[in-house]
Amino acid sequence: DWTTTNYIEETVAEIKERVGDAQVICGLSGGVDSSVAAALVHKAIGDQLTCIFVDHGLLRKDEGQEVEETFTKEFDMNLVYVNAQERFLSKLAGVADPEEKRKIIGNEFIRLFEEEATKVGNAKYLVQGTIYSDVIESGGSEGASTIKSHHNVGGLPEDMEFKLIEPLRELFKDEVREVGSELGLPDEIVWRQPFPGPGLGIRVLGEVTEDKLEILKEADYIYRDEIKKAGLGREIWQYFAVLPPMRSVGVMGDGRTYCYTIGLRAVKSKDAMTADWARIPYEVLEKISTRITNEVPQVNRVVYDITSKPPATIEWE
Ligand code: XMP
Repeated sequence: DWTTTNYIEETVAEIKERVGDAQVICGLSGGVDSSVAAALVHKAIGDQLTCIFVDHGLLRKDEGQEVEETFTKEFDMNLVYVNAQERFLSKLAGVADPEEKRKIIGNEFIRLFEEEATKVGNAKYLVQGTIYSDVIESGGSEGASTIKSHHNVGGLPEDMEFKLIEPLRELFKDEVREVGSELGLPDEIVWRQPFPGPGLGIRVLGEVTEDKLEILKEADYIYRDEIKKAGLGREIWQYFAVLPPMRSVGVMGDGRTYCYTIGLRAVKSKDAMTADWARIPYEVLEKISTRITNEVPQVNRVVYDITSKPPATIEWE
């Protein structure tokens, strides 16, 4: 009989037995899967696990600190927090092409992860948050990924010889969440919406600069806050703000403004292959628009994306 409790107990026992007294590393992204995988392995082997969190500076507001606090304070885990915003931003300077940006972010991410991994005294195992749907997808057509070169954070460095620990391989997403909750992970992590590996790097459209990132982080934060307050957080699959590389004219007081536009995206989906734009109530949209234009001075216009996938994609890049 499958129960979360049984699953945790059995998996913990298996991991203990397999790992013995070896060292284990885990690339933590802050997403649901890698977080639950890390918590599970930590329950099994405690201090033998070191998690590496590469903060590329393209995370949403407060996200890095949340992950750090959860894992170091509540779980008392060995966590290497790599603060790398400057390194990523300097690599991204002058680059506007989405695929180019993805490549740069993905490569830099792996490089940093490798650097840190080699510092952890001869780790033998690498934890990956692979879940059942990933197993199915990678067994399916490779071509599906050519529309955009999706990379998953914590992607396996090919020339490093780790044995893999994939404790969630047989679980569906809802089971992963159950396991996470039972292990004591906070709702903010267990119910975190999908977030792309390149993060805000593909939501600041075109060239990514620190200023633009700041604007987007603030707007996105307000958006998420209002969605949460409206109680829509769990029924919308994914929602986020984007910052297009354009400005438009507005008016404030006696003066004309020439500022950025924020695009709001919200979709309902089952597997991200197709998606329907979410019908967020007008009152909620109004609140979001008012708050963003009041609280983020560089923004004078807010638009709502009413396209489904296809023909659009969920992300704008
Ligand atoms: P699209 O935009 O292709 O997105 O409709 C489908 C899902 O994939 C996520 N996504 C990514 N995830 N690296 C990732 O790890 C990426 O480069 C990437 N691009 C899109 C997107 O957020 C959505 O959930």
